[in-house]
Amino acid sequence: MIAEDFILKNYNSNVESGSVKWESPSNIALVKYWGKKENQIPENPSISFTLSNCKTITKLTYTKKESKGFSFDVYFEGEQNEAFKPKILTFFERIEEYVTFLRDYHFKIETSNTFPHSSGIASSASGMSALALCLMSVEIDLGADYTSEYFNKKASFLARLGSGSACRSIEGELVVWGQNESTESSDLYGIKFDGEVHSNFKNYQDAILLVDKGEKQVSSTVGHKLMFGHPFAEQRFAQAHDNLAKLKTILATGDLQNFVKIVESEALTLHAMMMTSMPYFILMKPNTLEIINKIWKYRAENNSNVCFTLDAGANVHVLYPENEKESVLKFINDELAEHCQNGHFITDFIGKGAKLIEK
Ligand code: DP6
Repeated sequence: MIAEDFILKNYNSNVESGSVKWESPSNIALVKYWGKKENQIPENPSISFTLSNCKTITKLTYTKKESKGFSFDVYFEGEQNEAFKPKILTFFERIEEYVTFLRDYHFKIETSNTFPHSSGIASSASGMSALALCLMSVEIDLGADYTSEYFNKKASFLARLGSGSACRSIEGELVVWGQNESTESSDLYGIKFDGEVHSNFKNYQDAILLVDKGEKQVSSTVGHKLMFGHPFAEQRFAQAHDNLAKLKTILATGDLQNFVKIVESEALTLHAMMMTSMPYFILMKPNTLEIINKIWKYRAENNSNVCFTLDAGANVHVLYPENEKESVLKFINDELAEHCQNGHFITDFIGKGAKLIEK
């Protein structure tokens, strides 16, 4: 499909008001998206596990209005919030050519997260996907007749224009985004991974260790830009294609040892890109390294398949198969929690995607 296929052509402009509510999860990339072109097109393909517990719940109430500009209010956890408005305005500007009723209604956006606000967990993937899904439900209210496949594709297409990684949060359990040779894919939206997945990866677990709950040191917008003219950019983008191809086989065969290698290497490569860009950043904290070293030691000593991945920050995602749940949780409690701010971590697992809550 091409971008033009996502333009809402006709809708019933007599609808006065209504409301919809969605919950949408966060996701954790195994092969990382880092670097983008114009219009939120990724430089390389990525694949992620959709999560279950870490999610955003958004209610969108729309009311017909006369004036022609964008009009919306944002409430975060019950309180009016001005800080989110610029990002949502940019989102509206990017999607208005596809969501053609945007200027006809006033929107009340009420949103909350299941994870603590200042946890350092990026809420852009769950937040933008939840809002995109709400807008898709408004399209249905205004008379659009979509197959569920088209609905999900357009929701993902819109979410991508809010935040790239958000396009991987509509469905589960594994989602690919970005053209590549190994899987069915698109640069415009995420697609449920079409390959075989071995039972070793069923219910895969993710404990998010909150090492640094502060504001992000580098916003992802700035981060992606660092890949322009980066000395290792081309090799990195080629490596992501390669890693996705390898992961496809690993997922089919249940090869946990090689899964660990690809996933950890991807995380460290992402950070290596930031350390070798200009300007350069070190986003890991001493506690991030303590945790990584302890994971390596534990894995070697216990014949375990626990591994880590990182996003563009200091927090550590600890990934492990369901059959190691008890032992790894004990390890986290006994040895890793002390490296988290206030001992705080969140346990999550692979999920099936977003849900409509209310219409
Ligand atoms: C490091 O999706 O937050 O988490 O498109 O600018 O909103 P924007 O970027 P964003 O980038 C996240 C990148 C990452 C890796 C990943 O999720 O693939």
